[in-house]
Amino acid sequence: MEGVKIINLPKILDPRGNLSFFENSNQIPFDIKRSYWIYDVPGGEIRGSHAFKTSHEFIIALSGSFDIVLNDGENEEKFSLNRSYYGLYVPNLLWRRIENFSTNSLALIVSNVAYNESDYIRDFDAFKKNRNEVKS
Ligand code: TYD
Repeated sequence: MEGVKIINLPKILDPRGNLSFFENSNQIPFDIKRSYWIYDVPGGEIRGSHAFKTSHEFIIALSGSFDIVLNDGENEEKFSLNRSYYGLYVPNLLWRRIENFSTNSLALIVSNVAYNESDYIRDFDAFKKNRNEVKS
């Protein structure tokens, strides 16, 4: 899907335990303005199901696993995340939902914007219209 990419992070292997990291705009293609995380998700629940007008995100499964389903208004693609040394870059104007969370999974999400409800598009038809307008 256009603009979407799995980004592998540095992995410092060590017999004492491995270490990975990302730095502001070094490993990921934007300046980080905000971090949030999703945890204690009951079995079968879905988070997200919306798009952002301007927010870009980078999503990592710090623990456990989950699926990110992206829709550009025409096609849908699923990405399964299950390791803490890579993540998914999701540009703005893509509908996204996060589902199939394993027990004790932890999703870390970093964004290029502060929280702003007006950046959300929560209606799928409005999203498609918005995307068509911006892309045309
Ligand atoms: P939201 O992104 O709507 O979660 P989901 O898409 O999974 O339903 O976030 C849920 C609520 O959490 C939202 O109404 C406001 C609050 N929130 C913040 O205050 N700051 C944040 O950075 C985020 C992501 C959410």
